[in-house]
Amino acid sequence: MSDKATLEINGQKHEFPLVTGTENEVAINIKTLRGVTGGVTTIDPGYKNTGSCESAITFLDGEKGILRYRGYSIEELAEKADFLEVAYLLIFGELPTSEKLEQFHSDIKKHAVVDDDVKKILDAFPKAAHPMGVLASLTSALTAFNPTSVNVDSEEEMYNAIVRILGKFPILVAWTMRKKHGMPLDYGSSSLGYVENILQMMFKRPDEDYVQNPILVNALDKLLILHADHEQNCSTSTVRIVGSSHAGLFASLSSGISALWGPLHGGANQAVLEMLEGIKEDGGDTKKYMAKAKDKSDPFRLMGFGHRVYKNFDPRAKIIKVAADEVLADLGVEDPILDIAKGLEKEALEDSYFVDRKLYPNVDFYSGIIYRAMGIPTEMFTVMFALGRLPGWISQWREMRLRKEPIGRPRQIYIGETHRPFKDINNR
Ligand code: CMC
Repeated sequence: MSDKATLEINGQKHEFPLVTGTENEVAINIKTLRGVTGGVTTIDPGYKNTGSCESAITFLDGEKGILRYRGYSIEELAEKADFLEVAYLLIFGELPTSEKLEQFHSDIKKHAVVDDDVKKILDAFPKAAHPMGVLASLTSALTAFNPTSVNVDSEEEMYNAIVRILGKFPILVAWTMRKKHGMPLDYGSSSLGYVENILQMMFKRPDEDYVQNPILVNALDKLLILHADHEQNCSTSTVRIVGSSHAGLFASLSSGISALWGPLHGGANQAVLEMLEGIKEDGGDTKKYMAKAKDKSDPFRLMGFGHRVYKNFDPRAKIIKVAADEVLADLGVEDPILDIAKGLEKEALEDSYFVDRKLYPNVDFYSGIIYRAMGIPTEMFTVMFALGRLPGWISQWREMRLRKEPIGRPRQIYIGETHRPFKDINNR
């Protein structure tokens, strides 16, 4: 294959180098396009064909249904690693030795405290506030209590910023839930594992000890691993672009949380469960909802189906589906919602509308069913996604800063009015 692409505009030919990744993905490097063509730009709504960066963190092949973090398959990581190991792998590029992992955890624990004044901010929110809005605000508010920006050229400062947020974020996550349920705020215990501590901080009642259930710990660990990174999705691109202006880490992460909130992205897990509940309450007629999803005059979409990149099974959905069965069986929960989900999946996989458009269940289709069985309220589902995605956002932010990427600033094609004279207010 040639290592150049030729573009002809107005009879003039211009050559651009091809860039090939380690998995043989090919891109045309158009860095010089505007310069050599006198200002011609590209337009690609939703960036469906645009690579925003080169990255060594996550590889995914949407046609083959492959997802790997730093070269390790998601299936192997979900089975053999724990969330903190995966976080370390994503951020620093290699699986940690047991000493490094222990040190990492111990450094995180040192920062597992937030300024007591954060409670005042939390108190100011009404109970009805959506936990994602509260989480984004509190994450941004951390800037006020940690005002110094990170010197990204100092490995030590970078490391400290990372362990700081990994220590504080689970507290904010747990507190958004406790606030909603009027529960006193809790710090958990430094003697627990990272994921065990999250569960304790979320669920411990003031009047009793929290007894860990290994089934729940294992299920949450797996879910967090499966959500930990997904290359240049909407929230990650947001974190990178905000960080590219050299805004601080907390501010960049807070913007990622806001991006994740939307129902087309991380908010889909809440939307899936609400959709399944709605179908159940409406008599469980899945065919009616399949027809609605296919009707272009109806805004209804089958939530948890389809993906910008996966045109085959989302490998995360496959693992989660099995886990949902296991968790419900282990906990002895019989959830009619699971049957509705399975029914919808079966119908969609046999329906030409979904088959032709390559719409398969995505990561969010079954995750809510597990969260629900664990006793996590529906409004917290996207918060749990944010908790899992945190190491991905951090690693992408770190990579972007270490590679000294330029500020993100796309161009546009202006389609508004051309120049016109100002009209006096009496003549409009
Ligand atoms: N239900 C019905 N039709 C759909 C759906 C769906 N869930 N998803 C896509 N389509 C149709 C869409 O109407 C379009 O049809 P046509 O070609 O006739 O106009 C075609 O499939 C292509 O869809 P698109 O919206 O152009 O695709 P996209 O890549 O822009 O959107 C998506 C991807 C995930 C936003 C979309 O599939 C969707 O809205 N899914 C439901 C929301 C969801 O589950 N989101 C979670 C994504 S996974 C978690 C994450 O990583 O964020």
